[in-house]
Amino acid sequence: MDGETLTVRTPAVRQSHRLLLVGDAHYATDDARGEPFRRYSARMSGGPRDMGDLRKDLERGRKAGCEAALFLGDMLNFPSEAGVEQLTDVIAKAPLPTYYISGNHDWHYEGLPGTEADLRREWVARRLKPLYRGHDPMAYAVRLGELKILMVDDSTYEILPAQLEFLRRELANGAPAVLAAHIPLHLAWRRGDIFFGVGHPDWGAATDPYWEFERRERWPEGGHSQTTLAFWREAWATPNLLGVVAGHIHTQSVDAFDGRFQFVLPKRTPRQLLVQPA
Ligand SMILES: [Fe+2]
Repeated sequence: MDGETLTVRTPAVRQSHRLLLVGDAHYATDDARGEPFRRYSARMSGGPRDMGDLRKDLERGRKAGCEAALFLGDMLNFPSEAGVEQLTDVIAKAPLPTYYISGNHDWHYEGLPGTEADLRREWVARRLKPLYRGHDPMAYAVRLGELKILMVDDSTYEILPAQLEFLRRELANGAPAVLAAHIPLHLAWRRGDIFFGVGHPDWGAATDPYWEFERRERWPEGGHSQTTLAFWREAWATPNLLGVVAGHIHTQSVDAFDGRFQFVLPKRTPRQLLVQPA
């Protein structure tokens, strides 16, 4: 890690690939159309509203030679029409190809009844859909020459069967890939941090610190589904998955192990990933 750039050297690529990564910008953009939802958006209504900084970040990324930008979730504090419109415009006018995946806040109006999975499905369809520019909001692959970026929505901490199938299918041909998601995957030496939560063996109702605060359903009594645990196991066991980029934690970290990495972004501040031939 040097300044804002994480460099990964690997024999798996023949060319260099530089990516701009942005996570957890937490825009609270809203207007009069959000009035009926105020009691669901109030707690999260503080934060920047104008995305001018984000446009500048993308321009800087282009100038630095990034071939694409990834938005890794919690770009929005709640799915307001004004927020989605402005972010859609940022992506549409971006000076480099820009790809979005959701975090746990983007689709969440706090206090609405329903399971996390149902609320996400509803609000992705009702509001967030334009941000994906036709890609499947739950999982899609971006090809950057020889390198694949697997954009996966893990913003409920859980993985759906179709997303596990997607991972298996996309990794099957051995091409080098990077998984891009909002919530980091569990790592054995980070067992003390439940927010490195996908595949965490202690994740569940007993360890959910914020369900009342965030006015959502509590994490399930039984912990992760078998599908989520299989996703976690297979992701780390597949050699051509070079590593993971994620957000959610708001504190930067890099774990490097067994020839792979997990790079967690700081809040709002862009970082770059440079994948270079070894
Ligand atoms: Fe988050």
